[in-house]
Amino acid sequence: MAKVFIAYASRTNKTKKIAQVLKEIFEEKGHEADMCDCKEVENAGVLENYDILLFGSATYHGDMMQPMKTFLFLAEKANLKDKIGGAFGSYGWSGEAPQRIHDTMEAIFGMKMPAKPLKVKQVGQKPENLAPAFVDKILSAL
Ligand SMILES: Cc1cc2nc3c(=O)[nH]c(=O)nc-3n(C[C@H](O)[C@H](O)[C@H](O)COP(=O)(O)O)c2cc1C
Repeated sequence: MAKVFIAYASRTNKTKKIAQVLKEIFEEKGHEADMCDCKEVENAGVLENYDILLFGSATYHGDMMQPMKTFLFLAEKANLKDKIGGAFGSYGWSGEAPQRIHDTMEAIFGMKMPAKPLKVKQVGQKPENLAPAFVDKILSAL
């Protein structure tokens, strides 16, 4: 059983909904998953208690939301090297945020990133349909 941590930044709760769907899928597969708004994380040390960490943000003005940027500076203080990571987010048309988070987790934190970022378009896509394949990819790196 893996311990999974899911942190999100979301303005109208669509990225939060993706986080909830991810949490449910990991739990259905017998893993332990904690989820929170990234603004609630005060201590980077807690991140080291997890095997898999998923960070998500909606895209606004071509970028991740400010709370996710602040959170990534905090997460830099933890030793996440070689932990398994993933990035996700809701978007309208371009969806830059998940890829930027993914790249930061890989390049700066030295995490293993087995899956392409999970991008869920606000109109016409449902996290319930896209998340299972993303989770399977993530779990394949355990
Ligand atoms: C002012 C504004 C700017 C936005 N900028 C972008 C953008 O640059 N690229 C994009 O893909 N979506 C953009 N969106 C769409 C949001 O990413 C989309 O509504 C998303 O589902 C919001 O997720 P959230 O509910 O987690 O905040 C923008 C939306 C608003 C209201």
